[in-house]
Amino acid sequence: MQGLMQAAGAFDAVVIGAGAAGLFCAGLAGQRGLKVLLLDHAERIAEKIRISGGGRANFTNRDLDVRAPHRHFIGDNPHFCRSALARYTPQQFIALVERHGIAYHEKHKGQLFCDGSSQQIIDMLLAECAAGGVTHWQPCGVDEVGFAPGEGYRLRTRRGEVRTPRVVVATGGLSIPQIGASDFGYRIATQFGLRVVTPRPALVPLTFGGEAWAPYADLAGLALPVEIATGSKKERIAFLEDLLFTHRGLSGPAVLQISSYWQPGAPLTIDFAPGVDVTAALAEAKQRSRKRIANELAGLVPARLADAWVGEDAALQRPINEAADRALAALAERIARWQITPSGTEGYKKAEATAGGVDTRDLSSQTLESKQQPGLYFIGEVVDVTGWLGGYNFQWAWASAHACAQAL
Ligand code: FDA
Repeated sequence: MQGLMQAAGAFDAVVIGAGAAGLFCAGLAGQRGLKVLLLDHAERIAEKIRISGGGRANFTNRDLDVRAPHRHFIGDNPHFCRSALARYTPQQFIALVERHGIAYHEKHKGQLFCDGSSQQIIDMLLAECAAGGVTHWQPCGVDEVGFAPGEGYRLRTRRGEVRTPRVVVATGGLSIPQIGASDFGYRIATQFGLRVVTPRPALVPLTFGGEAWAPYADLAGLALPVEIATGSKKERIAFLEDLLFTHRGLSGPAVLQISSYWQPGAPLTIDFAPGVDVTAALAEAKQRSRKRIANELAGLVPARLADAWVGEDAALQRPINEAADRALAALAERIARWQITPSGTEGYKKAEATAGGVDTRDLSSQTLESKQQPGLYFIGEVVDVTGWLGGYNFQWAWASAHACAQAL
């Protein structure tokens, strides 16, 4: 231990957390000539990158509008992310990916994935760290971070004491605790007087309580495109994406997206036939058809959903030409504006991100440094900046890491 301390006890910067943001920041800072230590308490490196995008890492999004990033990011100050995102764009990260010879493709709405595997992104980041001569200790936890004015930081780590004038906290959010997530970043923030916006699971499936969900449990596995919305008329937010019924509730991209905006107790409104005037379509069918209502409805939405919706109501168990106008209107309303209130979320075990985090009022948007504690930086998901599904969270990790690395 003594040997280690003497060999490597002093660094220009210590980056805590070797995930997306930490690896990228350490590599960039090392390549700027700084002596950098990167450490992480987990056994395996960058597990979240590895499992991301179904194993292919949706590493950025081409549709990110750097002039209006608040469209794709959530936080108490959605404009905070603008400076960093404008100075390190998706195109710059794509250029890096191409320099490393990683093949990729666009899947949906600007989302870029590796053709091969997410391990290629991890290998790329490790190669960038090697190019910067970064010292990497893993697994290695940090038990204490002390600070004395004029002396800088003193870190008590599992591999000995380390001194540095700059500490970068890149320990991520609370989601997926089984692969190393911890509240370390929030604790360090609080220790040094920064505020923390209460964290909550984001990009997470929603649940609807056992009894209330029973009538829909049989629909588990059904996926369909919907428009999903929440919020008051003035602050309505909506997504046009795929929805998935599960045994416990709703999931799929539509629900993950809306979950980041959903407030406990608020209803969701779901349109199962977006772009279709269901009222008019059913009225028209009534004039020309003698088929059962469920069969006609199955022309507008998947048959399983049509059966389930019609099956709930005795007035709808008949040919459509015999249906009462009021019953058809009520059915159309339930297809186009189904209202349901989630009882909760699947929690951090299933969340792809953590909303909330280190309060952006206490950080510089240019450098990610604490406004009151010199030499203390927070980057990536630990900050109160949460992206939409689709590569936005990684782009924030890269951009915030870049902004910080330039300032170290
Ligand atoms: P990240 O979580 O990557 O890294 C934090 C690191 O800090 C970890 O290595 C952890 O071990 C370490 N650490 C934590 N506590 C510590 C402590 N006390 N001491 C030392 N080290 C500590 N995003 C996206 O843009 N596209 C995608 O395809 C996906 N897919 C996806 C799938 C799933 C299942 C999840 C859970 C998440 C995604 N995401 C995603 C989100 C994305 O993974 C996430 O936003 C970034 O990894 C955040 O990068 P950070 O570096 O901030 O944290």
